[in-house]
Amino acid sequence: MSDQDALAQALAVAEAQAAEAEAELRAAPASAGRGHAPGAADALVSITAYPNGPLLVRGPFEILTPDGTVIPPGRKTVALCRCGVSTLKPFCDGSHKAVRFRTEAEPPDNAPPALD
Ligand code: FES
Repeated sequence: MSDQDALAQALAVAEAQAAEAEAELRAAPASAGRGHAPGAADALVSITAYPNGPLLVRGPFEILTPDGTVIPPGRKTVALCRCGVSTLKPFCDGSHKAVRFRTEAEPPDNAPPALD
């Protein structure tokens, strides 16, 4: 498999993961919080830590390799692995479910203060 094929496969899996996670977030109670005001989706980059899953990145962003090469996301929303198990890093491939990755519901006590 060429690098281009592998990237295309990774992006397809990430797209499916992002769609699934977004659907679950939409079904979550409003108290779960949302990243930004309606209509601001194209003006801001938002990163949503999906419970027990990936980081969903929405908005105008770039993903770069360590040498600065742009990895074209091909979409406005991607799912980035934060469990460390994905075989398609930096994208989520759904492996977090198999390893039962868990996150904390609340930020740790030593979390930096929110910026206003
Ligand atoms: S967060 Fe989904 S595979 Fe790591």
